[in-house]
Amino acid sequence: MSDGLSRRDVVRAASVAAMLPLVGAFSASAAPRRNPTLKIGIIGCGGRGTGALAQALNADPDTVAWAAGDIFADRLDACLANVASSVKLNGESRTAIPPERRFVGFDAFQKVIDSGVDVVLLTTHPIFRPEHLKAAIAAGKHVFAEKPVAVDAPGIRSVLESAADAKRRNLSLVVGFCWRYHDGMRATFEQINGGALGDITTVQTTYYTGTLSRHPRKPEWSDLEFQFRNWWHFTWISGDHVVEQAVHSIDRLAWATNDRWPARVICLGGRAARQGPEHGNVFDHFSAVYEYDGGMRTFHACRQIDGCPSDNTDYVYGTKGSAVINGWTPTFHLKDLRGDTLWKYKGRNDRDMYQNEHDDLFAAIRAGTTINDGERAAYTTLMALMARMSAYTGQTIAWDQALNSKESLAPASSALAWGDWPTPEVAVPGKTKFV
Ligand SMILES: NC(=O)c1ccc[n+]([C@@H]2O[C@H](COP(=O)([O-])OP(=O)(O)OC[C@H]3O[C@@H](n4cnc5c(N)ncnc54)[C@H](O)[C@@H]3O)[C@@H](O)[C@H]2O)c1
Repeated sequence: MSDGLSRRDVVRAASVAAMLPLVGAFSASAAPRRNPTLKIGIIGCGGRGTGALAQALNADPDTVAWAAGDIFADRLDACLANVASSVKLNGESRTAIPPERRFVGFDAFQKVIDSGVDVVLLTTHPIFRPEHLKAAIAAGKHVFAEKPVAVDAPGIRSVLESAADAKRRNLSLVVGFCWRYHDGMRATFEQINGGALGDITTVQTTYYTGTLSRHPRKPEWSDLEFQFRNWWHFTWISGDHVVEQAVHSIDRLAWATNDRWPARVICLGGRAARQGPEHGNVFDHFSAVYEYDGGMRTFHACRQIDGCPSDNTDYVYGTKGSAVINGWTPTFHLKDLRGDTLWKYKGRNDRDMYQNEHDDLFAAIRAGTTINDGERAAYTTLMALMARMSAYTGQTIAWDQALNSKESLAPASSALAWGDWPTPEVAVPGKTKFV
């Protein structure tokens, strides 16, 4: 902790604070409850990072934005210019990061981590998550890390090690699989995991949407900058959309099976409607069949093609009934085998799941307890990665094979410099080899 305070000091302060109302009964001059200020560092000042920083600051009044890092100065400046208005209490003063703690470059992450922060928000493109997470945990920081947690198997193995390291060091690691922090989802999956549908026989999830932003090349951009400005469309930076976006639906598929991991996957995919350099080398559709020991099969399909209907629904089937789940509409409905309602979510829909993530993280830090989503997040991301590996190669890919893959897409930050960077080729099933 900063300010020379140890975890034990914080816990002791919290116990004293808990006693204050009682003390107040005897002493009108008792000091108001005051927590040590937690310093927050943000690494990756884009859309999600800006939201996460405001949510972290809104989660606990005794926090300040202490340091910020990005590879682009324009993104960092825009984030800090916008975030103050989303902070409910003293936004201007709590987000006023001086120039000496604003870092730009591929090494910015280490400078943020070394700046004296207590909590780090990792909200860059997925490629950097394993490296940044390892550095943050090794330095003893609590972490909020966005999903997905890696773009390749070496990254997954690194995240598994970091998650174990966080456990050893009593550090919290909250991962942005935000639906796990959504009230309606939590209640619904509690019903399913508790047996309301009987034994789960299969699950189908979908993530059909349009294509994501494209930024035409500017003359002053190098190859590498062009790829980073269009990161969603480059597999080595994003993981491809089955990993970057549809991993939310794959995570809920896993949740419905009580986090049972598949033995293998066969996934079909391709690139039917993507054209032009901004579209990089990612596919635009995937359709995965996961197979489990014992024979159960589950299904996931995703598409990013304009002009087609969108859908982001989960269908869960069990021996006693089925469920239709959609967080956006919102629909949380369990039916019996005749189609009659077994259960419907009637709880609150007014709490923001992104805010809940930070409320839980900071409550855990204040209480001296920990949350560690790391291992589950790594395995969910691996489920998405193995689908991509199968679609790119045209082969059935086993769980252990995927976990032990030697394909490394993410160079170390120290190996990156603005300049020439070849456009990666689009995979061709049957020709592209599994590595
Ligand atoms: N949980 C959700 O619902 C949700 C929603 C949106 C995005 N995300 C995830 O959040 C992450 C960020 O997405 P986004 O939409 O904010 O993208 P974005 O492009 O808006 O922001 C990413 C930022 O990270 C910066 N960056 C990249 N590499 C960096 C590095 N090495 N060091 C410092 N900064 C670096 C970029 O310059 C950019 O400003 C992605 O992993 C994405 O999948 C999650």
